[in-house]
Amino acid sequence: MKIQVIHGPNLNLLGSREPKTYGTVTLAGLDKDLLAEAEKAGCELRTFQSNSEGELVTAIQKAGEWADVLIINPAAYTHTSIALRDAVSAIEIPTIEVHLSNIHAREEFRHKSFIAPVAKGQICGFGANSYRLALQAAIHLVKK
Ligand code: DQA
Repeated sequence: MKIQVIHGPNLNLLGSREPKTYGTVTLAGLDKDLLAEAEKAGCELRTFQSNSEGELVTAIQKAGEWADVLIINPAAYTHTSIALRDAVSAIEIPTIEVHLSNIHAREEFRHKSFIAPVAKGQICGFGANSYRLALQAAIHLVKK
């Protein structure tokens, strides 16, 4: 089972970025945890982060060729990017949208996700645990 995790813009700053909202775990720590969880479950997991919309589009396309499931936190591009939505829509594997914070309980501009309508589902509001829950969901999806 192959799972690709993609992190969008500013998530490289996790740990120091608005810790009240996003927690204190670093991106390296979060990825390490996910890799360990995936290994326990016998999955191959790859992670990727970019601040650039074009690089994220390319990473989504590549995930479509390599992975069984895509887990993506598109960060601010969630609320703006038709390019990311089209990329998610174009690939044939299921996508799970993830957010650390509960985007629906925050500013109104964060309530809209361009990704959600083309995703299998969305998990948000559980901090770093959102990713762990997404990994569990991904494993269940593939086993089904
Ligand atoms: C985020 C929520 C987005 O609104 C924000 O732009 C982010 C992070 C989250 O994980 O909570 O950068 O995707």
